[in-house]
Amino acid sequence: MGKVYNTVYLSIRRKLSVLITGGNGSLGTELKKIFPSALTPSHQELDITNKKNVIDYIRNHDFDTIIHAAALTHIRPCEENRPLAWNTNVEGTKNLVDAVLDKKKDIKFIYISTACVFDGHTGMYKENSIPYPENFYALTKLIGEYEVNRLPEYLIIRTNFVAKKKWPYPRAFVDRFGTYLFAQDVSKGIMDVQKENLYGYVHIVGDKRISMFELAKLTTPEIQPMTINDYTGPRLTMDMSLDTERWKKYRISDPQ
Ligand SMILES: NC(=O)c1ccc[n+]([C@@H]2O[C@H](COP(=O)([O-])OP(=O)(O)OC[C@H]3O[C@@H](n4cnc5c(N)ncnc54)[C@H](OP(=O)(O)O)[C@@H]3O)[C@@H](O)[C@H]2O)c1
Repeated sequence: MGKVYNTVYLSIRRKLSVLITGGNGSLGTELKKIFPSALTPSHQELDITNKKNVIDYIRNHDFDTIIHAAALTHIRPCEENRPLAWNTNVEGTKNLVDAVLDKKKDIKFIYISTACVFDGHTGMYKENSIPYPENFYALTKLIGEYEVNRLPEYLIIRTNFVAKKKWPYPRAFVDRFGTYLFAQDVSKGIMDVQKENLYGYVHIVGDKRISMFELAKLTTPEIQPMTINDYTGPRLTMDMSLDTERWKKYRISDPQ
């Protein structure tokens, strides 16, 4: 009898119900394809900076996994509007964590973090490497990780990706590096690791360390090179390449 009960229980558990924040962003757009039945509230429907809105939304909707991809993501706006970056990336994450704790349900919290939590001086950072952010965006993402650490069941995914589309600038850095993937490859990685029931920190990374210029060239053959000497602005993480001791590496998908 117990065995039958367990089988039924497990098959119910496998029908994953997912809430995705940031569903209209680069990664969120791809996550929605992988999790087509997920709840994907817009920024207006679920403003993570509004504590009451977050508590009400989480109380009134049923799901067993949350993929938290909403954030203020660009380095310059985060530096120029630190209060907004803090409210979105730190307080917004805290609001979601508090609401999940308040719900008193077994919910798995998947937080999308970044390779930029590391200093970028050496590259190939592993899950247990020591973070040291170079800019305010990266600092807020790191503090967000510690908010998520308060939960009993969490998965912090550090990664580095771009949308598979024309490079949005005329030039790209030849001296900034990463183990880049396209957003759709990262979504697939997120699906894989959540199926494996991994918890804690996991890096979802590409199998090759390449420059941003090489990455841009995949979708935009006419892209022109630039170096850090051509740039003015907030400090950048120069080598964002990640290694992993906990998961497999992915091949970046064909740009066509
Ligand atoms: N892109 C990268 O290179 C990269 C690398 C590593 C990790 N990450 C992390 O991956 C996640 C997704 O990045 P992405 O590039 O897909 O981001 P993105 O394209 O900039 O999208 C961010 C999303 O967050 C939403 N958002 C912003 N403020 C919000 C708020 N107060 N309440 C609710 N939603 C809000 C935005 O909605 P609106 O557009 O409607 O405002 C948008 O849908 C982020 O957590 C980012 O830190 C990104």
